[in-house]
Amino acid sequence: MRSHYCGQLNETLVDQTVTVCGWVHRRRDHGGVIFLDMRDRDGVAQFVVDPDTADAFANADRARNEFVLRITGRVRLRPEGTQNPNMPTGMIEVLAKDVEVLNTAVTPPFQLDEHGKVGEEVRLKHRYIDLRRPDMIDKLRLRSRISHTVRAFLENQGFLDIETPVLTRATPEGARDYLVPSRTHAGNFFALPQSPQLFKQLLMVAGFDRYYQIAKCFRDEDLRADRQPEFTQIDIEASFVEENDIMDITESMIRQLFQEVLDVELAAFPRMTWQEAMDRFGSDKPDLRIPLELTNVDDLMQQVDFKVFSGPANAADGRVAALKVPGGASLSRKEIDEYTKFVGIYGAKGLAWIKVNERAKGLDGLQSPIVKFMENVVEDLLDRVDAKDGDIIFFGADKTRIVNEAIGALRVKLGADLDLYTQDWAPLWVVDFPMFEEDDNGRLSPLHHPFTAPSCSPEALKDDPANALSRAYDMVLNGTELGGGSIRIHDQTMQRTVFDILGIGQAEAQEKFGFLLDALQYGAPPHGGLAFGLDRLVMLMAGAKTIREVIAFPKTQSAACLMTDAPGEVSSEQLKDLNIRLRQKAKADTTAE
Ligand code: AMO
Ligand code: AMP
Repeated sequence: MRSHYCGQLNETLVDQTVTVCGWVHRRRDHGGVIFLDMRDRDGVAQFVVDPDTADAFANADRARNEFVLRITGRVRLRPEGTQNPNMPTGMIEVLAKDVEVLNTAVTPPFQLDEHGKVGEEVRLKHRYIDLRRPDMIDKLRLRSRISHTVRAFLENQGFLDIETPVLTRATPEGARDYLVPSRTHAGNFFALPQSPQLFKQLLMVAGFDRYYQIAKCFRDEDLRADRQPEFTQIDIEASFVEENDIMDITESMIRQLFQEVLDVELAAFPRMTWQEAMDRFGSDKPDLRIPLELTNVDDLMQQVDFKVFSGPANAADGRVAALKVPGGASLSRKEIDEYTKFVGIYGAKGLAWIKVNERAKGLDGLQSPIVKFMENVVEDLLDRVDAKDGDIIFFGADKTRIVNEAIGALRVKLGADLDLYTQDWAPLWVVDFPMFEEDDNGRLSPLHHPFTAPSCSPEALKDDPANALSRAYDMVLNGTELGGGSIRIHDQTMQRTVFDILGIGQAEAQEKFGFLLDALQYGAPPHGGLAFGLDRLVMLMAGAKTIREVIAFPKTQSAACLMTDAPGEVSSEQLKDLNIRLRQKAKADTTAE
C-alpha cells in the first residue's frame, strides 16, 4: 500500500512521487490550504493539500486527528523560512495528489503530546494509543534491537535457543507461584515458571552444553518500579564451566551490546565481594556512580554514653555506620527531617548527624544533637571519615540489616537529590554471596535458589551453613541488579544436603524435585549460568524510570492489566470443568439455599 514510511522522507526524494500510510498527527487549515502532519512508526512528515485537487481536499477536510490515511504526492523542498531543522523530515513536504481515508477515529482519550497530563492509568487503559507516541516507539524499537543483538552474540558463541515449558511444576526463585488448574487432573495445578532454572539444568544433563532462551517468567510478588509479575529473562546456561567462564562471556555480551547499541565503551567490570558491598554501601547492588560510602564506627561507639549507639555497637548482630556527605552541612533542618522520615521507611528509629562547620574550632565548630554524648571519641570519628569543613555526617545504629537498608538507601537518595553522580555507567560484579540468609526466627532460606553450589564440601556446609559462601554472582549496573547466576550443584549428595538444611525433607524433596535428583544421578556435568532481566536492561539503556515504560503491555502495581481487565472472572461452567469451587461463590450458594 505504501512506498515509504513518513519518517523516511527527505531531500533525496525531491520531485519523486511517494505513497505513505499513517495517522493524522495534526491537521491545520490555513485558509484554503490544509496541512496534514502524517505519522507512522518511523516519524512525522508534512503534507500539503490544495483545493485544486478537489477529491483529495474533501478527504483532507474531513480528516481529524488519528484518522488513518493513505496519501500519494510529490516531494518538494519546503519554501525558505518554513523549514524545520529540528525534524528529520523538516526540509521537505509532500504536495498531495490523492488522499484516501482508510479509517476514521473517534476523539482519542488524550492527545499524544499531552500524555504527561493524564496519568499512567489512562495511558495503560488505552495502551494502543500510548504506544503511538514516538517516545514509546523508540523504547520498543530499542528493546527489539537489544534482544536481536543479544541473540546474535549468543548464537555466535555456540549457544542454542531452546524453549522450555510454561505449564510446569513450581520452580522456586523465592516468590509465590502463579498456578493454573488442570482440567484433566482434577485438583491438580500447574505452576508457571518463576524462571527456566530446572529445565536449563536438565538440558545440561542432556548434553546440550550451551543453552539460551529469551524466556517469560512469572512471579507473584510485591511489585516495584523494576518488578513485574510477568517479565522476561535472557536465560543462559553452560556445561564444563566455572564462575569466570560465565562471568567473562556475559560481561563481553553486555560490553558488546553497549558498544553496538549505545556506542558506549564500558571498562572491565570490577568485582566486589558481597561482604564488602554490604560494609561499604549497605547494599548487594551498590550504585557505584555515587561517591559516598558507609564507614564502620562500631569500635568507637562501643565507648560512648549513648545507648542508642553503644547498644548496637556492642551487639553481635548490630552495626553503627557513618555516612559522610561532602558539602552537606548546608542541608537545612527541614531537609534533615525529611531524610529522617525517609530512613524510617526502612525501619530506622532516627537519623543522627554531625555538621562540621569549622573543624579547627574543635567541639565548638560542630553542630549536632548527639555530639555531647561522644566527646571522648569525636576527634577519632572525624579522622576516620576524613571530615572537612562543610561536611555532614549521618549515622545509623540498629540491627545490621536495618542500618544497611536504611543508610544504603539514604546514600542512593542523597546521590540523586544532590546529583553526585561521577559517571554515566557503573557496572560491577558482586561475588561470594552467603549461601543462606537467616530470618528473625533463625530459619535459613537460599539467598539465590536452592540449586546454587556452595564454595565448600557438603560436610563443611552442614557444620556451619549460616557462614557458608556460595558460587553465585550478580551483575549490577547503576544500582540495579541486572542479572544473577551461579555454578550449580551437580551432585546428588550435595543437593540433598542443601534441601536438608532448608528443612526440605527426603519425601518432600522427592515429591517436588525428584526429577532433578534423579537426573543428577545420570551423569550430570558440572554446569552453571546466569539470567539477565531483559526489561531492566532495556530500562537502563533507554534511560527509563520503570520497566513498565519498556514493556508494550505491562501490568499495574496491583498486578492487573487495565486494558483487558485481566485477571477476570470466569464462568461457573469453566470452574466446574476445572473442579474448582470458589469460596465466596460457595457462600453465595448457601445463602441462596
Ligand atoms: P533471579 O531471580 O536473580 O535469578 O532473576 C534473574 C534476573 O531477572 C530479573 N528479575 C525481574 N525483572 C523484572 N521483574 C521481576 N519480578 C524480576 N525478578 C527478577 C532481575 C534478576 O537479576 N534462575 C535464576 C538465574 C540463574 O541462576 O541462572 C534467576 O531467575 O534482573
Ligand atoms: P534522641 O536521643 O532519641 O533524641 O536522638 C538523638 C538523635 O539520634 C536524633 O537526631 C535521632 O534522630 C538520632 N537517632 C535516634 N535513634 C537512632 C538510630 N537508631 N540510629 C541513628 N540515629 C538515631
